[in-house]
Amino acid sequence: MECIRVTLEKPRKYSYEILIGEDIVDRKGWITTVKNHADRYVIITDSNVNPLYGKMVRARLGETALPVDIVEIPAGESSKSLNTVLDVARQLVRLKVSRKSLLIALGGGVVGDVAGFIASIYMRSIPYVQIPTTLLAQVDSSVGGKTGVDLPEGKNLLGTFYQPKAVYIDLSFLKTLSDRDFANGLAEIIKYGIIGDNNLFEFLESESDGIKKRNPSLMKSLVGRSCKIKADIVEMDEKELGLRRILNFGHTLGHALEAATDYGLSHGEAVSIGMVGAAKISHRLDHLDGASCQRIVDLIKDYHLPTKIPAGLKTAQIMGFMATDKKAVGGQVHFVLVKKIGAPFVTPDIPSGVVEGTIEELQG
Ligand SMILES: NC(=O)c1ccc[n+]([C@@H]2O[C@H](COP(=O)([O-])OP(=O)(O)OC[C@H]3O[C@@H](n4cnc5c(N)ncnc54)[C@H](O)[C@@H]3O)[C@@H](O)[C@H]2O)c1
Repeated sequence: MECIRVTLEKPRKYSYEILIGEDIVDRKGWITTVKNHADRYVIITDSNVNPLYGKMVRARLGETALPVDIVEIPAGESSKSLNTVLDVARQLVRLKVSRKSLLIALGGGVVGDVAGFIASIYMRSIPYVQIPTTLLAQVDSSVGGKTGVDLPEGKNLLGTFYQPKAVYIDLSFLKTLSDRDFANGLAEIIKYGIIGDNNLFEFLESESDGIKKRNPSLMKSLVGRSCKIKADIVEMDEKELGLRRILNFGHTLGHALEAATDYGLSHGEAVSIGMVGAAKISHRLDHLDGASCQRIVDLIKDYHLPTKIPAGLKTAQIMGFMATDKKAVGGQVHFVLVKKIGAPFVTPDIPSGVVEGTIEELQG
């Protein structure tokens, strides 16, 4: 029997830079930072972002004298489907996109996840860069290389780990974002403060008035600090085999609430309630002191994010959705808890009744 070993070692070429600034994409010099010797560019964007920024990004890329095309997908989560993947891939074939071409994901997390997934499978992978335009995409989905689409059976069930060549975070895109989408991103930033950095948590507490007004220098600091936390975690655990799971703080209950409300709650709203749940479970189990638990609840409230489960949802229904969480290991639901702000840990070891009791408390 012949045995052929294929030993893969993560090469340095997978490293990439995240550039953060105001109006960076609209600057003439930006194009020199797109360090890819592409033969053409294809911008993948959505039907809301294209009319706002498609023309500007196309014009900047056009300064390279290389062909630039735009492929638009309908805005919204329903575009995270295999149908969209097939539709876009066939358009890429018609545009004669080759492995030397560069895909540009211009949009929120939906565009980033779809474009990244296509880049990872089209012609067995072609390079792509991320230009995230929502706060959530800037601090979360554009960093780390998780790509994917949904199936009717659940979110993100088909996907790959495929890192972009670069991430360009232009804070000026935030000006046109709706309040609800802005709050969605803030929920993830609050999460970084709780799991990764007590100083960031304090900054969120002390600067909340300016942050809520989207003050540019405060936003630059927030986005930079959040990306650094995520990048550090991804560097240590790219494929979510261990440490990266702490990024799911608030998501175990959050995902169940999103599904139980049939996505009536936005992701950030559901995660906010989930973070309150995780803090309260941490406190009930004597890991987290009462004052820190209250600070977490107060911070979430301060950013006008919800801290209570909407009326009408039954505990058993929520527990049922949690049991089918795709991140359950061996049928056991894992929770990310905290010992103090900035000190998270993952555990499957939650005594029965504690989760149910917490859900009931959040319904009150
Ligand atoms: N890959 C990852 O690691 C990861 C992490 C977190 C979330 N996600 C995924 O991200 C998705 C959610 O991302 P999202 O919240 O950015 O949603 P989204 O991409 O649907 O964007 C939200 C809305 O904002 C619009 N929009 C985008 N930029 C805008 C701008 N600058 N001005 C005005 N409107 C703008 C979009 O058209 C859309 O209507 C989910 O599918 C989720 O699964 C992925």
